[in-house]
Amino acid sequence: MTKIISIANQKGGVGKTTTSINLATSLSAINNKVLLVDADPQGNASTGVGIPYENRSPSLYDLIVNREFDAKSIIKTIVPDLDIITANTNLAASEIELANIENREFVILEILSKIKNYDYIIIDCPPALGLLTINSLVASNSVIVPLQSEFFALEGVSSLVSSIQLIKENFNNSLRVEGIVLTMVDKRNSLSALVEKDVRDHFGEIVYKTTIPRNVKISEAPSHGKPAILYDVNCSGSMAYIGLAKEIINRQGLIK
Ligand SMILES: Nc1ncnc2c1ncn2[C@@H]1O[C@H](COP(=O)(O)OP(=O)(O)O)[C@@H](O)[C@H]1O
Ligand SMILES: [Mg+2]
Repeated sequence: MTKIISIANQKGGVGKTTTSINLATSLSAINNKVLLVDADPQGNASTGVGIPYENRSPSLYDLIVNREFDAKSIIKTIVPDLDIITANTNLAASEIELANIENREFVILEILSKIKNYDYIIIDCPPALGLLTINSLVASNSVIVPLQSEFFALEGVSSLVSSIQLIKENFNNSLRVEGIVLTMVDKRNSLSALVEKDVRDHFGEIVYKTTIPRNVKISEAPSHGKPAILYDVNCSGSMAYIGLAKEIINRQGLIK
């Protein structure tokens, strides 16, 4: 059974792509076969695992437009047991193209249902609640929401929660929130601690015990075309993402 997890938050810059790349890498490092799906037209997840622009064809956009899975779209990354379906700027047009077709919420689900042999599929969602994110959530078993530990962390979370609820009611009744992960946490900053307390008071158990620290190695890694875990496995950020992967695996079965 493949478990499909979307990494979603309509806010930009909260750590979706960083979490997608490093969680996917960590899961593969602990003996899972993982497929990363880059569903953001910015293509940062594709860049972050070292796939040059010219190697992104067919990309997710082609699969969506043709409404058909193509095995050639699956590309091996430098990480063993981690493959990717890439994205490029073409994908932006799919928001418009999807709008005009029948069953437009189910296109990514149809594509991913053809893909077997992975333990996990991780989808990096764009920073919007448009059709790409809706398609990703419809295709997923669960969603992980990264929250940046800053003053406005909870801003917009209620509209994300209501979108998830709507998708659950209308298109995918088994969708659930896998968890909330606090990113860019700065333990020396008292505001960061306050935000963490606030988020935990508000959401309780669903917030992972593991938090991701603000760590310069994490932000440097993509410019080397490598997940942080490959760039520097011992940095605090890499260790946190490996911890998060373990917590996710251990939690399975504990939550209904
Ligand atoms: N834990 C972290 N420590 C330091 N920088 C981070 C961390 N997580 C993300 N970043 C940086 O913050 C920026 C936004 O992160 P990103 O993952 O691209 O967010 P999103 O996909 O939600 O837009 C990027 O430049 C990224 O390198
Ligand atoms: Mg992103």
